[in-house]
Amino acid sequence: MNTSNNVAQPVHIDRVRKTFGEFVAVREMSLDIAAGEFVTFLGPSGCGKSTTLKMLSGLLPQDSGEIRFGHKRIDMLPPNKRNIGLVFQNYALFPHMSVAENIAFGLRMRGWSRAAKDKRVDQLLQLVRLEGLGGRKPEQLSGGQQQRVAVARALAFNPDLVLLDEPLSNLDAKLREQVRLDLRDIQREANQTTIFVTHDQVEALVMSDRIVLMNKGGVEQVGTPYELYATPTTEFGARFVGANNLVAATLDMSSGTAQARIGADLALPITTCAADLDKDGTTIWFCVRPEHLALRPWNKEGEGQFAGRVLDKIYQGTTVLVDLDVTGLGTIRAERAALEVGDLPIGAYIGVHIERSHAVARSTG
Ligand SMILES: Nc1ncnc2c1ncn2[C@@H]1O[C@H](COP(=O)(O)OP(=O)(O)OP(=O)(O)O)[C@@H](O)[C@H]1O
Ligand SMILES: [Mg+2]
Repeated sequence: MNTSNNVAQPVHIDRVRKTFGEFVAVREMSLDIAAGEFVTFLGPSGCGKSTTLKMLSGLLPQDSGEIRFGHKRIDMLPPNKRNIGLVFQNYALFPHMSVAENIAFGLRMRGWSRAAKDKRVDQLLQLVRLEGLGGRKPEQLSGGQQQRVAVARALAFNPDLVLLDEPLSNLDAKLREQVRLDLRDIQREANQTTIFVTHDQVEALVMSDRIVLMNKGGVEQVGTPYELYATPTTEFGARFVGANNLVAATLDMSSGTAQARIGADLALPITTCAADLDKDGTTIWFCVRPEHLALRPWNKEGEGQFAGRVLDKIYQGTTVLVDLDVTGLGTIRAERAALEVGDLPIGAYIGVHIERSHAVARSTG
């Protein structure tokens, strides 16, 4: 069921910039978001995520740039004229109002009739899976349920854009995982253009159609979760999204294919390269994900195999992390199925194979 009565809008952010005195909080951000798309702003604390949302919602004026919903420029409008639904970290439901009254709040402000309001509240209670709980007060709900009420309240008036600023960070780990999936399903069903903010990369990977990776007020990379994970374009991206082993190397193009030269006599194949990497001799990070390091019994004759000494093992249930000392590569971490690794003794030597690798530019030698 599509409970949205209006057509979702694309959103265009065009060279938007924000400074606080000398400090540049958001440098020239440009981004086109498709109608109904779920986009996540991901980045460390202080990188400018909330500042960007505040400019979109009108709580902060931008220094320069334009924001448009479809063809309509909205950055000159006051917050209440922008038709944006907001959900923040502290869900800030009105404690004295029932769940239904909370959801209907924006509808009352917009002068909806009683009958239209009641119908819409019922639709939303169904959408966020809280049927029958409209009469309760927020304090009679769990944290996850309260957060879903906040989402329903933000969606109620068919906003052109929904902004969610770290809405799950007050929930405990288990509930967070559940509400994360609920929220994704609700967004898909409502088909409303959405920007979600988090500094949790797993959350971003799980929920998003596209991720905007931010760092120090700038955009590092925009792409699908798979693109950000498989082919980071910068060192920051290679380190921030997912676990990774980074080894300092030099790009060697002499054989016609990209290789990573490490020290005097090690040249390893590079499976994928960040797009701008093609110049022989460029300093790079040779990146290998822990799950792309295969472990086999040590066999001196084996082609493309390194001897790794087991430094430590961390069991995680289904998988085990194995820290290895590999001559030439230093300390690297593998992640394999626990059943496959078995009872590997610390100090043992095993054969390490690199199944996939990626390279990004290294800024300093
Ligand atoms: N009103 C302000 N005056 C001065 N500096 C500000 C103001 N608001 C934000 N900043 C600064 O701008 C930068 C970006 O802040 P912002 O709130 O956008 O970060 P964020 O990415 O949302 O971080 P977090 O994950 O911690 O919420 C920070 O360095 C912050 O200190
Ligand atoms: Mg913030």
